Amino acid sequence: LFAGDVAFLKGVVAMDGLPPADRIEVCFAGRSNVGKSSLINALTGRRSLARASNTPGRTQEINYFTTPGGPYLVDLPGYGFAEAPVAVVKKWQALLKDYLSGRQTLRRAFVLIDTRHGIKAVDDEILTLLDKSAVTFQVVMTKADKVSVKDREKALAQVREALAKHPAAYPEIVLTSSEKGDGIETLRALIASLE
Ligand code: GTP
Ligand code: MG
Repeated sequence: LFAGDVAFLKGVVAMDGLPPADRIEVCFAGRSNVGKSSLINALTGRRSLARASNTPGRTQEINYFTTPGGPYLVDLPGYGFAEAPVAVVKKWQALLKDYLSGRQTLRRAFVLIDTRHGIKAVDDEILTLLDKSAVTFQVVMTKADKVSVKDREKALAQVREALAKHPAAYPEIVLTSSEKGDGIETLRALIASLE
């Protein structure tokens, strides 16, 4: 599925700019700087396909990537804190919400949670939006390399508990490190199995 020809298709700034809904898609959502773009790079084995950066708010458009014969991969702008002008942030947050609640072909939303921080109030807001929109979401824990095994377990427990009140949650949580490669193959297989 991800061998070779994953390609950037387009950056979208408004709902009417979305590509034709001619196949399924999965998206990567999460707080600014959680590691969405890095995860797409790790999944596709391409170091700089999606733009990753230390500056929160780096991804400011909905970025579409095509996979040969597979779903679109969709890199979303982060929510929460961003180093960008307020008016700009407001615009892309509105687009993010419209996208998450209104894209018919969105098969699964991967919601990324930093293993060091767990689920915050802003995450919960997004999860509730996904519940209301009946979009199945799955939590992907990121930056697992930055915490001890003990703290990983703590983070997983917190997330499990938080997911209990979200009907749209897919129960399996995937622990990943884009840096070290943990969980990447698992996530690839998972995406490849979606129909
Ligand atoms: P926005 O587009 O700004 O919302 O951010 P993003 O969620 O796309 O995050 P991005 O992939 O740009 O990563 C943010 C920072 O975290 C970068 O400095 C990455 O190198 C770092 N990072 C991402 N994933 C990992 C990981 O698994 N391990 C470690 N140690 N660092 C990571
Ligand atoms: Mg990004």
